[in-house]
Amino acid sequence: MFRHRTVSVIEELQLVPPSKLGIEDVSKTFRTATGEVLALDRVSLQVNEAEFVCLVGPSGCGKTTLLNIIAGLEKPDSGMVLADGKSVTSPGRDRLVMFQEPALFPWLDVLGNVLFGLKLKPNLTNKDRRNVARYYLELVGLTRFEHANIHELSGGMKQRVSLARALAPNPRVLLMDEPFAALDALTREQLYGDIQQIWKARRKTIVFVTHNVREAACLGDRVLLFSPHPGRIQEEFAVDLPRPRDINSVDLAGYATKIMRALKSFSPERAAAAV
Ligand SMILES: Nc1ncnc2c1ncn2[C@@H]1O[C@H](COP(=O)(O)OP(=O)(O)O)[C@@H](O)[C@H]1O
Ligand SMILES: [Mg+2]
Repeated sequence: MFRHRTVSVIEELQLVPPSKLGIEDVSKTFRTATGEVLALDRVSLQVNEAEFVCLVGPSGCGKTTLLNIIAGLEKPDSGMVLADGKSVTSPGRDRLVMFQEPALFPWLDVLGNVLFGLKLKPNLTNKDRRNVARYYLELVGLTRFEHANIHELSGGMKQRVSLARALAPNPRVLLMDEPFAALDALTREQLYGDIQQIWKARRKTIVFVTHNVREAACLGDRVLLFSPHPGRIQEEFAVDLPRPRDINSVDLAGYATKIMRALKSFSPERAAAAV
């Protein structure tokens, strides 16, 4: 009988090379009851290995659609996405998504939810799988809560579980769709610090969607500003600040103001929602 080679915990936790992404001329139209919506209009973008790129823009400008296309959850009408030179045609465990609403299983405890992501790893023993899951729970600061029920957790803790679950299969790319949008300011601030630390420790390529300009400036190497109808990349900002970055720093506020000004220039009424 065919047997998988067993992999040790140490091997499993080794860093994997982060992917390089090529988004080439991607367009996507949705047909709705009220007509056609050009969600993405010939969007092109290169993301380097281990780069942290933030996509920012008012709601409806195609951010989620682009993320879903990179994830392989949605297909473009034209153009393509390349991950390390290979065309993306379906979801894969090299590119995992973390959503705004934590899509956790309420019938599993915290550890069970993280273990779920490791089901696809047949070459780990059950014991090792638990140890891998525990490593990621520690990384997100939830060691003490491994047996907690999901409904007992705060919103911030649920997002930490989601993050651990997305990290556990050791993807090369992490796609994050407004993961902190529903959280209060203080909880978000803690997570900004933690996500920067985790990104450094695990070396992932991250594409992070947000409508919060300051959040984008805090996290991104680059911030890409999208404009709606049709969804296009309007402008690109390189954020040249040392890390870890403090969301409240004056330098960061300077970048946020610059990006906000650009956002207001094509969407004055919507910019108010993006602070
Ligand atoms: N499945 C869908 N069916 C119809 N229209 C959609 C669908 N998904 C997105 N859209 C439309 O495409 C546009 C871009 O949506 P989306 O990518 O969700 O924007 P964002 O994430 O920036 O808010 C919006 O006008 C939205 O209404
Ligand atoms: Mg969205």
